[in-house]
Amino acid sequence: MSKLLLIDDEADVQYSFKRIFDSPEIELTTASSGEEGLKLIPKLKPDLVLMDLRMGGISGMETLRRIRQLDTKQLVILMTAYGTTQTAIEAMKLGAYDYLLKPFDVPKLKELVTNALKAARDMRQVVSYQPLLESEDYELGIVGRSAAMQQVFKLIGQVAGTDATALITGESGTGKELVARAIYHHSNRATQPFLAVNCAAIPEQLLESELFGHERGAFTGAVNQRIGKFEQCNGGTIFLDEIGDMTPPTQTKILRVLQSGTFERVGGNQPLKVDVRVIAATNKPLEQAVAARQFREDLFYRLNVVRIHIPPLRDRREDIPLLVNYFLSKQGKDQGRTPKSIAAAAVKALEKYHWPGNVRELENVIRRAHVIAKSEAILPGDLPPEVTGQGGSAASALPLGGAGDASSSDAAALARQMFQIAKRDPKLKVIPAVERELVIEALKETANNQVQAAKMLGITRATLRKRIEKFGIQREMKIE
Ligand SMILES: Nc1ncnc2c1ncn2[C@@H]1O[C@H](COP(=O)(O)OP(=O)(O)OP(=O)(O)O)[C@@H](O)[C@H]1O
Ligand SMILES: [Mg+2]
Repeated sequence: MSKLLLIDDEADVQYSFKRIFDSPEIELTTASSGEEGLKLIPKLKPDLVLMDLRMGGISGMETLRRIRQLDTKQLVILMTAYGTTQTAIEAMKLGAYDYLLKPFDVPKLKELVTNALKAARDMRQVVSYQPLLESEDYELGIVGRSAAMQQVFKLIGQVAGTDATALITGESGTGKELVARAIYHHSNRATQPFLAVNCAAIPEQLLESELFGHERGAFTGAVNQRIGKFEQCNGGTIFLDEIGDMTPPTQTKILRVLQSGTFERVGGNQPLKVDVRVIAATNKPLEQAVAARQFREDLFYRLNVVRIHIPPLRDRREDIPLLVNYFLSKQGKDQGRTPKSIAAAAVKALEKYHWPGNVRELENVIRRAHVIAKSEAILPGDLPPEVTGQGGSAASALPLGGAGDASSSDAAALARQMFQIAKRDPKLKVIPAVERELVIEALKETANNQVQAAKMLGITRATLRKRIEKFGIQREMKIE
């Protein structure tokens, strides 16, 4: 449950907030003045404060200043009927998370509150990177005992105390965001804000203004001046997620901030200086984007000062039982009950599966199994069919009668199965992924005899060659 504190002297506003945020996930407390709000905050510890700028008694501005003195990380959204005034801008500079114009647009208000609550969670949730196993407070950790994860933990420890830029790479669902938060929580900036920006989720035209803000009139629709995340986050840490999706102009601006700490708001010409630590993440191979000239090489090197690569789950299967354990206890906690146990055969199936969606997929599978299992133990039958197939990959999970008598209906069954996998993990580009595996299998089977391999796959030798090149399997298969 999230705690909201509304500070506003207008009874009307208090009333409408009570209606808008009448939800079991939100506990709304109201205060009618800055003084009252300031008294409430230390006890209530709200996740988010929404406050009017103009009130009787001490002003919203002064209240904000005092809130920041109490807790630099307290998120505050300001509300004002005078959005264009310099006051609102100044308030943003004082560290408000955002501001909202009155009268409010309810969907926008809700969206803003949802985003702010997520930011609050990011800052509050302490992430421990100790491989904590016995301990009860498991709950907020990054789990992993494999050598690869130990290496990740070590790097987190080494980089956390510095202000170095870090680049976290790994497939979708491997835990990049978790690692970013762990770095933040163990850094000298842990008492300062942490803001996450998903560069892929924000439309291209808006990303630059989200990050750097804009001046009034900078573009159509820029009715007010806006303070970007870099300015809001001054002194803190910014997490640029999916950085591979950033356009070249934004890349250029990011490079400049990294080099000199300066930037201009969109449409502005006054250089602003900030002190922000950048942590970036991507699930795209940035080296390739650099080679294809889609990503600036100089920015890549600047980000890549410390590189933390999180290997896919299938390459560290020894972590699976541990993660299963962890997710079971988390699930038990969420459902307010003792966690269910799991049959050894089910763990075995989980260990064999190739996890295209990585830890996120494993977590979802456990969550679902915990809910649907009829007994106190999760059995193999409670797991999705693609997981319990007898092999480690989608291909060996195939329901064929025997190796010799495959038919087109078997292929159809397999395709349906793969489609289910693709549906659950849209980032898995299923057709190229399957094609690649097929080519590798056929080459292995025929000891790199391309004529035979092509025949087996039902394609021409020329097509096979093209695939070998396209998927870069020459080196893997030692093909000259
Ligand atoms: N080592 C781990 N221990 C415990 N939980 C983990 C671990 N790795 C990932 N998770 C959980 O898996 C989920 C996905 O992690 P996260 O969001 O950090 O992945 P990501 O790499 O950022 O994925 P994407 O590229 O899709 O954004 C989260 O719920 C996270 O808590
Ligand atoms: Mg992520």
